[in-house]
Amino acid sequence: MAQEDVFKKLVSHCKEYGFVFPSSEIYDGLGAVYDYGQMGVELKNNIKQYWWQSMVLLHENIVGIDSAIFMHPTIWKASGHVDAFNDPLIDNRDSKKRYRADVLIEDQIAKYDEKIEKEVAKARKRFGEAFDEAQFRTTNARVLEQQQKRDALHQRYSDAMNAGPDLSELRQIILDEEIVCPISGTRNWTEVRQFNLMFSTEMGSTADGSMKIYLRPETAQGIFVNYLNVQKTGRMKVPFGIAQIGKAFRNEIVARQFIFRMREFEQMEMQFFVKPGTELEWFKQWKETRLKWHKALGFGDDHYRYHDHEKLAHYANAATDIEFLMPFGFKEVEGIHSRTNFDLSQHEKFSGKNIKYFDPETNESYTPYVIETSIGVDRMFLSVMSASYQEEKLENGETRVVLKLPAALAPVKLAVMPLVKKDGLPEKAREIIDSLKFHFHCQYDEKDSIGKRYRRQDAIGTPYCVTVDHQTLEDNCVTLRNRDTMEQERVPISSLDSIIADRVSITSLLKKLQ
Ligand code: GAP
Repeated sequence: MAQEDVFKKLVSHCKEYGFVFPSSEIYDGLGAVYDYGQMGVELKNNIKQYWWQSMVLLHENIVGIDSAIFMHPTIWKASGHVDAFNDPLIDNRDSKKRYRADVLIEDQIAKYDEKIEKEVAKARKRFGEAFDEAQFRTTNARVLEQQQKRDALHQRYSDAMNAGPDLSELRQIILDEEIVCPISGTRNWTEVRQFNLMFSTEMGSTADGSMKIYLRPETAQGIFVNYLNVQKTGRMKVPFGIAQIGKAFRNEIVARQFIFRMREFEQMEMQFFVKPGTELEWFKQWKETRLKWHKALGFGDDHYRYHDHEKLAHYANAATDIEFLMPFGFKEVEGIHSRTNFDLSQHEKFSGKNIKYFDPETNESYTPYVIETSIGVDRMFLSVMSASYQEEKLENGETRVVLKLPAALAPVKLAVMPLVKKDGLPEKAREIIDSLKFHFHCQYDEKDSIGKRYRRQDAIGTPYCVTVDHQTLEDNCVTLRNRDTMEQERVPISSLDSIIADRVSITSLLKKLQ
């Protein structure tokens, strides 16, 4: 199945089974805003729990906070967001559609990449086992021609972005590459303008007393402005970290790919404060630690790659993305940044307060350097869903849709089903749920055939199902069915907790990180 179709199916699956709904749907929706349904919220909470516990339980020197979304507006001046958190926009005069100029150019670069990959795939098919891919890439005339065009465009684009960006050069690239509007098909483009991504509102009621404030575009600044409060009250010593999970808002112009790019989303960020000069060592360590966290979910190491940034933001001295293989290619899920002492120094300058750390070991004061790990909850959710969604052909010719979610993240851990709705079987099933519901999320289901009930649970990713039958009333044993293997075994009710609890707990994932 084409990856595009897989993605479409995933989006409708998310809606059909209560994972993700378009926001305000009965009013025809609101662009790039989504609501999580009854299953989605459980999965999302489990992802957040996995991240939170991996930070604050596994590291003695990391603590959490929950700072407000509204913050003093000068914070965003100090952080650079008021002046520099912009996207370059361009309009097509015929379709009246607005685009990000950088995205139009990046899509064009991706088109060259696609052409190259197509040539390689064709040659691989033609030459079979004897195919030498490295040699083909460096000698084939068509590949070399596309590669040269791609590299020249990439260089020109990087130069334009690094020069401020140079807005007229971005427009010229779009014209020179003959990029057309996907709607109107024309090249009737306006000038490129800068557009700030922060949402703003007014705080206070009177005209004089009101103040323009922003909805935070990242949670990180709430950590920076509290770092000394936490350090002093928590008696923290450098190196130490502060973790936070919370909503962030960006007025994204190109909002697409479902929950990949949203206007209201959630971040899980950790700022790690270190001694100046040690930051690159810590950066390396956090890169490894974070990749290990992702890989522990068991989707396969080939689903991940690092994308090290060649060109760095002016305040960073190292940066990398962890990319995940989504149905639409490798995409950024998490960023790891060595942010130097830029943010803390800026807050010191703009607030006029001394926020230096006093090191009791060396008796000196300094502004710590910061390593940041920043991951989007919604992007993580999308990566988990897309790697788990599978359509399997069964021996009887039927197809089953199954979400092979890591058991610890699954919304429901166990479904309990009486074989029939009579003869005391429902009561026995309820008894089982009543004893297990304190340990993990259980669901009762008595409607339709057992086969249909299994399919429903497969579709929401429930790792275990238990069937209560007439024999159960005599021997207190049930049939335990495994979602992935579909194998069934007869087990005593008394051993259900010990069989299931450990496998479905977040602890089982955390242990893999040690
Ligand atoms: N404090 C650093 C920071 O915010 P970022 O690369 O802009 O860095 C970090 O964002 C992560 O937040 C991204 O890797 C992504 O997972 C998530 N993210 C950013 N913008 C998003 C959006 N519009 N919708 C969903 N997730 C987003």
